[in-house]
Amino acid sequence: MLCCSVSFCISDEAAAIDMDPVELETLYGIMESLSSDQDWRAAYPNPCQPGSRWPGIECRFTASDARFHVTRMDFGAFPNPSCRSSAGFPSRIFLLPYLESVFVYRCFTQSPTEISFPAKRNFSGSPLQQLSLRSNSALVGRIPPLVSSLKSLQILTLSQNKVTGEVPAEIFAMRTLLHLDLSYNLLYGAIPAEVGNLVNLVGLDLSYNKLVGPIPSSLGNLRNLQKLDMSSNSLNGTIPATFRRLNSLVFLALSNNLMGGDFSTAIPGLQNLQYFLMDDNPIFASLPAEIGQLKKLEELRLSNSGYSGSIPASFSELTNLSTLSLQNNRLSGRIPGGFANLSRIYHLNLSRNSLEGAVPFNASFMKRLGRNLDLSENPGLCVSPSAGIAGDDFGVDAVCGRGGITVKKSEATSSSSTRPIILLVLLVVVYHVSFSMIY
Ligand SMILES: *[C@@H]1O[C@H](CO)[C@@H](O)[C@H](O)[C@H]1NC(C)=O
Ligand SMILES: *[C@@H]1O[C@H](CO)[C@@H](O)[C@H](O)[C@H]1NC(C)=O
Ligand SMILES: *[C@@H]1O[C@H](CO)[C@@H](O)[C@H](O)[C@H]1NC(C)=O
Ligand SMILES: *[C@@H]1O[C@H](CO)[C@@H](O)[C@H](O)[C@H]1NC(C)=O
Ligand SMILES: *[C@@H]1O[C@H](CO)[C@@H](O)[C@H](O)[C@H]1NC(C)=O
Ligand SMILES: *[C@@H]1O[C@H](CO)[C@@H](O)[C@H](O)[C@H]1NC(C)=O
Repeated sequence: MLCCSVSFCISDEAAAIDMDPVELETLYGIMESLSSDQDWRAAYPNPCQPGSRWPGIECRFTASDARFHVTRMDFGAFPNPSCRSSAGFPSRIFLLPYLESVFVYRCFTQSPTEISFPAKRNFSGSPLQQLSLRSNSALVGRIPPLVSSLKSLQILTLSQNKVTGEVPAEIFAMRTLLHLDLSYNLLYGAIPAEVGNLVNLVGLDLSYNKLVGPIPSSLGNLRNLQKLDMSSNSLNGTIPATFRRLNSLVFLALSNNLMGGDFSTAIPGLQNLQYFLMDDNPIFASLPAEIGQLKKLEELRLSNSGYSGSIPASFSELTNLSTLSLQNNRLSGRIPGGFANLSRIYHLNLSRNSLEGAVPFNASFMKRLGRNLDLSENPGLCVSPSAGIAGDDFGVDAVCGRGGITVKKSEATSSSSTRPIILLVLLVVVYHVSFSMIY
């Protein structure tokens, strides 16, 4: 039994229900242009018929005309129809009057083809809600502005193709859009300020393209935005202060761009942020203490970005943090003692900075992080002999002497030379002299 709507149930054995001849012919045209898995006309005279339905399509029975209509098509990956090497973009999909979703995955891989629309035909009535063309290495050319005439489109996914050119401004007039994913393509140019018109957007992914210029401050209008990924482009400028209005944002990735300067004004207000990934940018400012207000943060990655000054003590308030990556910056001062209280952290990398003083962790902290703690290449860090932890497990080979003076463990334990011993005695003397001078 196939139950199609509240009041219609059609038995598998029922007499074949004819499809609309125009729709059927369009369907054969699409199938034949994409797939030579079989002789579709001969094998499937009635592609929607229950029991002998085509692989990769879904149909719906509509009572008003007592016919089946195609609502979804899937191509490219088993069990869906495979694509032949000469497959070209099936622009006739935009003429199917009931089609709501199209998925084309790893289909156009050999003959270059472009997204196109039927010539001289009116497709503005297309009910298409989801268009997903993913991992098609031979899908080239520009995004046609006509995409914006699909008035029902909610999800547009063009990820991992070879689409190029600037993102047409018309796309940013599509207020129905909930998800826009143009990642891993060859798109270039600046991101137009009109992106701020997509007020219903929940997810925006423009990562891994060649986009330049600043992040438009109009993005602050996208109050429903939960995921924003613009990593691996050539964006510059700073995070606009308007980002503080993005209080639905859960995931923000801006890694591997050319962004610089202080962005602390953008931070308060991002109260739902759980992932903040911004490695590999020429920031060259201090770490914004405001990040400590983002209590839901689980992953914070700010490595390789020229941050200087000390690690704000407020970071110790990020009690849900599981990953903190601050390696390869110019951070100085001590590791905040409160880091020892980060009870959910399991990956902490502070290597390649200029941090100093005693490592504030104890044996149970060490046991939890194991090899995921990296404090190496901070020449000023030392391990207190009383802490009960082995510094070489996480890249610190100095032990703390009295008064914060550090002594290289390898030298302190060396017995073949008396020089380190003399040095140690000298330092202790200096320490006592300066101590008695103060008091
Ligand atoms: C296309 O069809 C819509 C109705 O579905 C109509 O409003 C519109 O004027 C038509 N456009 C053209 C160019 O014929
Ligand atoms: C940002 O990049 C654009 C385009 O490459 C350039 O014109 C502009 O001068 C850059 N701005 C800054 C602040 O670096
Ligand atoms: C921390 O994570 C736990 C478990 O996922 C969650 O219940 C809690 O609300 C989070 N705390 C904050 C401040 O978001
Ligand atoms: C760790 O947390 C405890 C309990 O909240 C607090 O008393 C202590 O001062 C904290 N330690 C540091 C170094 O912040
Ligand atoms: C290690 O430090 C944490 C946090 O300060 C504390 O809760 C825990 O009791 C300490 N464990 C040991 C074995 O000292
Ligand atoms: C920490 O970062 C350094 C520098 O990028 C890297 O080489 C190292 O593998 C990282 N350590 C861990 C434990 O992830």
